[in-house]
Amino acid sequence: MAKNLVEFKNLKTYFYTGGGIVKAVNDVSFNIREGETVCVVGESGCGKSVTAMSLMKLIPNPPGKIVGGEILFNGRDILKFTEEELRNMRGNEVSVIFQEPMTSLNPVFKIGEQLTEAIILHQKLSKNEAEEKAIEVLKITGIPRAEQIMKSYPHELSGGMRQRVMIAMAVSCNPKLLIADEPTTALDVTIQAQILDLMRDIKKKLNTSIMLITHDLGVVAEMADYVVVMYAGKVIEEAPVEELFKNPLHPYTQGLLKSKPLLTEETGDKLYSIPGQVPNPIGMPDNCYFNSRCDRCMNKCKDKQPTLINVSPTHKVSCWLYEEGK
Ligand SMILES: Nc1ncnc2c1ncn2[C@@H]1O[C@H](COP(=O)(O)OP(=O)(O)OP(=O)(O)O)[C@@H](O)[C@H]1O
Ligand code: SF4
Ligand SMILES: [Mg+2]
Repeated sequence: MAKNLVEFKNLKTYFYTGGGIVKAVNDVSFNIREGETVCVVGESGCGKSVTAMSLMKLIPNPPGKIVGGEILFNGRDILKFTEEELRNMRGNEVSVIFQEPMTSLNPVFKIGEQLTEAIILHQKLSKNEAEEKAIEVLKITGIPRAEQIMKSYPHELSGGMRQRVMIAMAVSCNPKLLIADEPTTALDVTIQAQILDLMRDIKKKLNTSIMLITHDLGVVAEMADYVVVMYAGKVIEEAPVEELFKNPLHPYTQGLLKSKPLLTEETGDKLYSIPGQVPNPIGMPDNCYFNSRCDRCMNKCKDKQPTLINVSPTHKVSCWLYEEGK
């Protein structure tokens, strides 16, 4: 079995807001192995992006702060990294692509300038070498007429092409980990499929690990090796993808899956909405956060919080239905 590249251990990332403390990531632990795609799913606001941004150590402070836990990258805690080690990690070992590439590309510089600059910054190549490398990575992403694209401005490209450029930029340094936060949500279905193909291709070629954040269970079914389901700042279930789809245990996961029985169905990118709402993140009581929406809720669920337990060596769930002494 491949070794762990990333280990989140009891990570706690809080935001200190005027209204109170938001425990955006509340004691989260899971691993990402080398060459593996881990999909993180869950409703809006459950802490997916904050988990990823904690790994990049890009939590805005104030109001945010990592208040507990460890994030091991290749066995070393990045929370203890020096600024230089962090810069090196962000530029060379971990790359991020976001939902809307327009916000990551600078509108006033040509694609080629931005791409070569990023390559020079992180790989210490000469300008000519960097330009060659830029064209090479653009070609890997399947962009036609790469030389011409180098001379274009971001607004001259379609959304799908901009996302390919972002992916080119992200993989130009052969990162060990690619974090993709809703990378296809803004794209139409055909382009979305192409971008997912591209990511799979890159993973195969470069053995990159991928942390893929998505709302879309169709994307999970296609891309994931392993799935982590989050709810209100906590991991409530995790398992290899086949296992999770075949045997979902948590009532929340079951609700999500019931909503999308046909995995390739083109039904948009939103999860089916399970009745009820995520509790107010401020001042949450110490019970099962899903209790008000769960049709299997028992008395205990309102009083005490379940813990994430192993039901098999690779399948974990946090729900009183599976815990001893229920
Ligand atoms: N800068 C911030 N200040 C205060 N609260 C924040 C900040 N950033 C995130 N949060 C809070 O942290 C929680 C988790 O947010 P996060 O962005 O991780 O959600 P998400 O799962 O990525 O949702 P989405 O699917 O909508 O992207 C939310 O309650 C959010 O309001
Ligand atoms: S702990 Fe109880 S309320 Fe929470 S998901 Fe399980 S059965 Fe439902
Ligand atoms: Mg997000």
